[in-house]
Amino acid sequence: MAQRGCFITLEGLDGAGKSTHVAWMTDWLRQAGISLLCTREPGGTPLGEQLREILLHQAMDLRTETLLMFAARNEHWRTHIQPALAQGLWVLCDRYTDASYAYQGGGRQLGTDAIAQLDAWTQPGHGPDCTFLFDVPLAVARTRVQQGRGTADRFEQENAAFFERTRQAYLDRMAADPDRFRHIDASHGIPEIRIRLDACLQALVQHWQSRP
Ligand code: TMP
Repeated sequence: MAQRGCFITLEGLDGAGKSTHVAWMTDWLRQAGISLLCTREPGGTPLGEQLREILLHQAMDLRTETLLMFAARNEHWRTHIQPALAQGLWVLCDRYTDASYAYQGGGRQLGTDAIAQLDAWTQPGHGPDCTFLFDVPLAVARTRVQQGRGTADRFEQENAAFFERTRQAYLDRMAADPDRFRHIDASHGIPEIRIRLDACLQALVQHWQSRP
């Protein structure tokens, strides 16, 4: 039986520059000889991509928003991520459950209990093996969002207090699980960030391939 693949997630505020690094990390891993599924949330499946459109653009109650995030995630996990990992593929996922803790739990102030219950119900005992948190001061993230794409989605339109709470929730998740997280200071320039990512990925590949 193939050794289970490593499940890597990328997290951070809108404007942290995360998307810039996804393609680079994907290339890095493929060049290291790793077979990889690169995917994202919300999304990653035909149903999940439809839910993404609704989640990013249609007003809804907070509980509905949280349930739809987990509906998309459940579909993604069961039909794509879990089978890929079982076949030995690595999975690189742009956002995952930590984003629900940060955005719905922190930003929207739902708290952690409901999210922990949904997490435990949909995927007991599973979760990312390694999470890169692209962390920037709020002012940097806001400037990047304003300079970036066209029309802001429902999350990008939120105010500074929302993003302060979201960032704090991410930092709390990292403090509670320091072995899983890699903190990336995303206020640095791209070359410096790549040096850090390169070191982290090398160590991760070595660690994963030396496992019994
Ligand atoms: P993206 O812009 O990184 O693709 O993410 C889309 C938005 O969805 C982003 O603003 C964060 C938000 N989001 C949540 O609020 N909760 C979640 O569980 C996930 C996965 C994303």
